[in-house]
Amino acid sequence: MSRDEQKHRAAARAADLVERDMRVGLGTGSTVAFLLDELARRDVRAHYVATSPRTEIEARRRGLDVTAFHEWPALDLAIDGADQVAPDGWLVKGAGGAHTREKIVAYAAARFVVIVDESKLVAALRPPVPLELFNFGLEATLASLAPVRVRDAAPSPDGGVLSDYLGAVDAPASLARWFDANVGVIGHGLVAPNLVDTIFVGAHDELHPNKNGDTP
Ligand code: A5P
Repeated sequence: MSRDEQKHRAAARAADLVERDMRVGLGTGSTVAFLLDELARRDVRAHYVATSPRTEIEARRRGLDVTAFHEWPALDLAIDGADQVAPDGWLVKGAGGAHTREKIVAYAAARFVVIVDESKLVAALRPPVPLELFNFGLEATLASLAPVRVRDAAPSPDGGVLSDYLGAVDAPASLARWFDANVGVIGHGLVAPNLVDTIFVGAHDELHPNKNGDTP
């Protein structure tokens, strides 16, 4: 099965969870694009919150009912892709730069479901870890986070500077705490297992990191 076919099958399995009148957070990325197709095809009449302008545009283009997040602050479900999935359920997200909004939406959801193809399964997390940084004091923040590289990319929709941490990711929980303690960091792409309910991998595999996951 090709990578795209795996993404599509994982997305279809997640779309099966969406029911009429549910409030659903939509992630960002190429796997989520398959999800949008499936949701539009099923016409389940749910209400959606988007994690990026790109997802909002693509969802509306497919006829999905996208509402403002402040109108639906508590979500039934959030569905998103990931860049890396470790055996213990830790994720790296944010290759597309939407990780801060994606994590806010995931935290607001009763259930967070991740959809990936097999290529995202890794033996251990590795750099880069996406970051979003305040522009104020950027040089000082970068110095405190070295090794880190600023992306050649537009600011996030919230004005953050997109960057990538290039150091070791051997201990994701302590690394996440270290990022969280840095006031120049708006958001980072490490996601703890306790946030994730289900990971659909392609057509068949299903992981439930929440049951034995740890926290930052
Ligand atoms: C967006 O910022 C990311 O967190 C995506 O969810 C992640 O990069 C997965 O994207 P793909 O589905 O395109 O691989």
